[in-house]
Amino acid sequence: MRDPHQEKVLILDFGSQYTQLIARRVRELKVYCEIHPFLMPMKEIREFAPQGIILSGGPAGVYEEGAPTLNPEVLDLGVPILGICYGLQILSHVLGGKVEPATTREYGRKTFDIKDTSDIFHGLAPQETVWMSHGDRVEALPPGFDIIGASDTCPVGAIRNSARRVYAVQFHPEVQHTPKGKTVLKNFLFRICGLKGLWTMRSFIEATTQTIREQVGNGHVICALSGGVDSSVTAVLLHRAIGDQLTCIFVNNGVLRKNEAEEVVHLFRDHEHLKLVYVDATEKFLSLLQGVSDPEEKRRRIGREFINQFAQAAQEIGGYLAQGTLYPDVIESVSFKGPSAVIKTHHNVGGLPEVMPLELLEPLRELFKDEVRQVGKELGMPDSLVWRHPFPGPGLAIRILGEVTHERLAVLREADAIVMEEMQKSSFYRQVWQAFAVLLPVRTVGVMGDERTYENVVALRVVDSVDAMTADWTRLPHDFLAHLSNRLINEVKGVNRVVLDISSKPPATIEW
Ligand code: XMP
Repeated sequence: MRDPHQEKVLILDFGSQYTQLIARRVRELKVYCEIHPFLMPMKEIREFAPQGIILSGGPAGVYEEGAPTLNPEVLDLGVPILGICYGLQILSHVLGGKVEPATTREYGRKTFDIKDTSDIFHGLAPQETVWMSHGDRVEALPPGFDIIGASDTCPVGAIRNSARRVYAVQFHPEVQHTPKGKTVLKNFLFRICGLKGLWTMRSFIEATTQTIREQVGNGHVICALSGGVDSSVTAVLLHRAIGDQLTCIFVNNGVLRKNEAEEVVHLFRDHEHLKLVYVDATEKFLSLLQGVSDPEEKRRRIGREFINQFAQAAQEIGGYLAQGTLYPDVIESVSFKGPSAVIKTHHNVGGLPEVMPLELLEPLRELFKDEVRQVGKELGMPDSLVWRHPFPGPGLAIRILGEVTHERLAVLREADAIVMEEMQKSSFYRQVWQAFAVLLPVRTVGVMGDERTYENVVALRVVDSVDAMTADWTRLPHDFLAHLSNRLINEVKGVNRVVLDISSKPPATIEW
């Protein structure tokens, strides 16, 4: 198959928590890049044919037993190389320099002397602030290298061999705390590797639609639509590529938000003109949830039934199964250690490929979330969809603590709709990761007019996060919270109290 990428950079991962950030920065500079483990076989590296290679940082010391190594053949490719932190140390080690174990750690913001601005440091001042995070340091340079930057505690802070186009820095140019870090990466990509920055979401769409057409031919594709950003963009992108060879299946599991099913059907049928099979299995799901309080059991039952419903609707169609897998999921499964001692994100269609003999199609598997949003915008999808907060597959079922009943669903739907409306009216909706209401399994006493009430409690959960792995509760203004609380209590029948969740993740989770 054709390679859709004109310009490519390879990031070899030595286990740094910042490796994904390197990829983010490179892509912001409009250069396509991929992260692979440091042990990537030479054959695969040659096939990938990068025009530049970046060696990430990593937590090990080069002399430690089992420390990740750099295959010296990588250096023989003649491709420009940039080592970052551990990348500098491993380069020095492999090329015959000397790395000394740490006596003290250098961590945090540092003043860095720039000794040469002719190539990788072009445009930098004689002194810049950089972010350091390392123990070991290079004591003797490998032959052929010169020093082009240093801090007071790190005399070999940046090195180069311009003839071989090998560069390395001890600091982290990929983090925000290195204000000119992006310039350093830009110099590497554009001045040293000679790239131009041709990777845009428009070029992605063009290349991907072409690839999808070649791969699918006259075949058929089925896509499970959830109404979320990833599956929606997947569907619209596929539709752009193969039109009516795509069938989307949208299963109403009975625990969606207020008006959600109608909105999804309207948007995709009437606006995007997709072939959409709508399965309303509300009663089936709710009967399966009867008497169930344990959230994991709710998830299992909903997950299993979703697969049943989907498989039933899809059996006539066959062909490919499209999924909205994103790049962080891909990296998680290939990366060396990565940031990935993590809780796997939950997938709405998880388990489908095992029960259905379909070939997978994952057109977004190269993209980060915000790139998916850009693709959605570029495809002309409405803002309300492109900026939608993540919504769990088991939906409101896990936001109703205790048993899920029609009555309790009705209460939470109304409360949730008010939270959404107020968040969207303010600028907060775009700023936060997720905002929602939770219906608690307790009733409390209240007073309304002359009468005592004994009604439900709604908890507000609003969090900031970048990837849902960690999260902090959003400090919303008190006036806004007061307004929200008033509306919830006055307008939602059956609610007489609102509380705010002020727990961070960890140790709490985002959902209850
Ligand atoms: P937690 O609650 O684990 O949530 O901090 C992290 C992210 O995952 C979402 N989430 C789910 N998504 N099925 C899903 O599709 C689930 O069972 C599920 N549980 C949590 C949650 O909304 C947050 O974005």
